[in-house]
Amino acid sequence: ASASVEQFAPSNIALCKYWGKRDRELNLPINASLSVSLDYLGSHTRLIPTEGQVDDVWLNGQQLQPGARFSQKVSEFIDLFRRDQNLYFKVETRNNIPTAAGLASSASGFAALTLALNDALALDLPPEHLSIMARMGSGSACRSLFTGFVEWRMGQRKDGLDSHGVQLEQQWPGFCIGLVEIDAGEKATDSRSGMQRTVETAHLYQSWPLQAAVDLGKLQQAIAERDFELLGQTAEQNALSMHATMIASWPPLLYWQPESVAAMQKVWQLRSQGLQVYFTMDAGPNLKLLFQRADRATLLQHFPNLETVEPFGC
Ligand code: DP6
Repeated sequence: ASASVEQFAPSNIALCKYWGKRDRELNLPINASLSVSLDYLGSHTRLIPTEGQVDDVWLNGQQLQPGARFSQKVSEFIDLFRRDQNLYFKVETRNNIPTAAGLASSASGFAALTLALNDALALDLPPEHLSIMARMGSGSACRSLFTGFVEWRMGQRKDGLDSHGVQLEQQWPGFCIGLVEIDAGEKATDSRSGMQRTVETAHLYQSWPLQAAVDLGKLQQAIAERDFELLGQTAEQNALSMHATMIASWPPLLYWQPESVAAMQKVWQLRSQGLQVYFTMDAGPNLKLLFQRADRATLLQHFPNLETVEPFGC
């Protein structure tokens, strides 16, 4: 391990969300989830072996203090791979999406770091093993190892060796995602502590795994039949159900800003006028719109700053 290596991994947007862990050390989920990877939006991570005795972590061109939370998380993650105790790295991650605004940048970051470590340490691990490793950095990262539609099979094993991403074979040309940025600032409560709080304090959470299982089936059907309405409805209801459990936590977890609600209402209004547009949201105030290519121009009139991605091209 002497030369520097660089890898890219895409961000991913869950259509059926991962919310709640059955094992917090290994990031094993309570429910299976399904996402779509964002093509060119994600993280580039470079690893350069250093002479130092600590990892030197950089994020978007800024050096982090070794004690910083993210820096420690990265270093502990590298420890999982580090066989030679004296091998440390300069780790440079660049996201081309806003960090920590609920745009799943930790997912692409840990996926890219996993791929880079696989190269740097010549591990030669197969994709499913890489997905398992990435999951230990951040649960949703296990889906960012793949492109297109990805299912995270929750698995049953205690050691987590059956809990990883699996790429679906179906493609969907013309399927679009639009990012509505409400607030690019750091979120107040990260997913990790947010889900723990929900699991421990929200009675509503009991129904979440049941709903997620039903939604996963509907999404698989929607993707197989290219039924956009079924996909959109299922994804939007799934996201709102997750948020309902968050809001029912104590202390309450409300990731929405007034502008988030205004954007939701705009989507509902456009839909009442016949436009096929739906949204999903993660642990942050931003909306991700789901629509089809033919409606892109119309949608841009209503959301002028929309950043759009076509995961399968056109
Ligand atoms: C709302 O994967 O960020 O985006 O495993 O604690 O790192 P950790 O959580 P993380 O949670 C993502 C939650 C979500 C839904 C999803 O992407 O499935």
